[in-house]
Amino acid sequence: MSRICMIGTGYVGLVTGACLADFGHQVMCVDSNPERVEGLNRLSVPFFEPGLDDLVAKNALERRLTFTSDLPEAVRKSSAIFIAVGTPQSKSGATDLSAVREVARQIAPHLTGYKVIVQKSTVPPGTSRIVSEIIRKNLKRGSKAKFDIVSNPEFLREGSAVDTFMHADRIVIGAESARALKVVSELYRPLYLIETPMVRTNIETAELIKYSANAFLATKISFINEMARLCEAIGPQVDVNVVAKAIGLDRRIGPKFLHAGPGYGGSCLPKDTASLLYFSKERGVKMPVARGTVEVNDTQKDFVLEKILRAVGSPRGKTVAILGLAFKPNTDDIRESLGLDFARALMKRGIKVRAYDPVAMPASQAVMPKIVYCPDAYQATKGADALAVVTEWNQFRQLDLGRIKRLMRRPAIVDCRNIYDPSTVREIGFRYQGVGRGEA
Ligand code: UDX
Repeated sequence: MSRICMIGTGYVGLVTGACLADFGHQVMCVDSNPERVEGLNRLSVPFFEPGLDDLVAKNALERRLTFTSDLPEAVRKSSAIFIAVGTPQSKSGATDLSAVREVARQIAPHLTGYKVIVQKSTVPPGTSRIVSEIIRKNLKRGSKAKFDIVSNPEFLREGSAVDTFMHADRIVIGAESARALKVVSELYRPLYLIETPMVRTNIETAELIKYSANAFLATKISFINEMARLCEAIGPQVDVNVVAKAIGLDRRIGPKFLHAGPGYGGSCLPKDTASLLYFSKERGVKMPVARGTVEVNDTQKDFVLEKILRAVGSPRGKTVAILGLAFKPNTDDIRESLGLDFARALMKRGIKVRAYDPVAMPASQAVMPKIVYCPDAYQATKGADALAVVTEWNQFRQLDLGRIKRLMRRPAIVDCRNIYDPSTVREIGFRYQGVGRGEA
């Protein structure tokens, strides 16, 4: 059993903290926001993530998982201190490291004996070394404390984060001392029992692995979205879903992340690809593949928006129903949400927007109160001139489209995620547009 201090109870910190507690470690989660800490102490998880409520409750009740604002005490009591604070994108595209730097300054004076600082936040290569320097400069005068810094990137997927932690494809540990490597490796021991591969490397390589992984995933998505555009130009005979399926059967390519759609959103891929472009440019390296990936993603949004506008025709007095506001299913995260982007663009043109999302409506309401939020998918389609299915929640796959047709003013569907069978939808009487599947 190790004693762990997890600084930051955002998405990454809370999921990692709860999962490590479930492995039997003693985890103290620290957050500077006292309301958040108070809520967590009442076992109220501040965001929606399947399985996380139960995991937090179980480990908190068994006293392996605690929440506090007292950073000095949590640091003193721990052998491993995780930094899991936000690294948002600044306007220039650079990663804003102020929270990471601030935490480093706060940790330093409370270090005693030997401790390992684990960098979990996604940071450009070289940052962990800078963090190490900040800590060194801020140690108490005459301090005999010793520490090592380790980069241990996360690969959690929102909506299935607990599962991606418990069944990780790999653990990456960037460490430069055998002692630090041992401390961090031990934390993940239950995963080695199920033969999870571990990549041991140096700090900068570990930092870069995270960006490479996300850039590659983003590249797959932009690649298939580009193919989708080509499919449409070739004609209605060609369906990008079939192309993706066939190329995905080649084991060198693989079937995942080849779903055409409105482009990637969320808190990671857009930010990390922008950051990669920024820090590669700083180093004088041109990255045309990564640049192209970002460019395709930026324009894919407009490509799909055009479909919705085409379905609506003249915007005057028109209404669009949007199903799905979360950036992906099984989350209430609306960062870089395509549903909200589309709503904004439509409302700017005077089009009324009715919307439904199983969990992301409260968050959406806070930023876009003018959308008409509806209690279910059917209510959202009432009187609409077009229906845009933007997030592929499972419940949208099984909708009674006959009923929806009767509810809508004009039967037009823009299937932004290609979840319906075009001919079935057309037979019901809809004008159907998918992404890369020909036009009606
Ligand atoms: C991603 C990475 O997958 C994860 O490893 C990393 O730690 C954080 O970033 P996440 O942002 O939670 O995870 O979601 P992900 O499932 O990767 O989806 C990102 C975006 O890409 C979503 O908008 C999704 O709709 C889109 N996407 C994904 C596609 O458009 N097509 C696909 O085939 C896959």
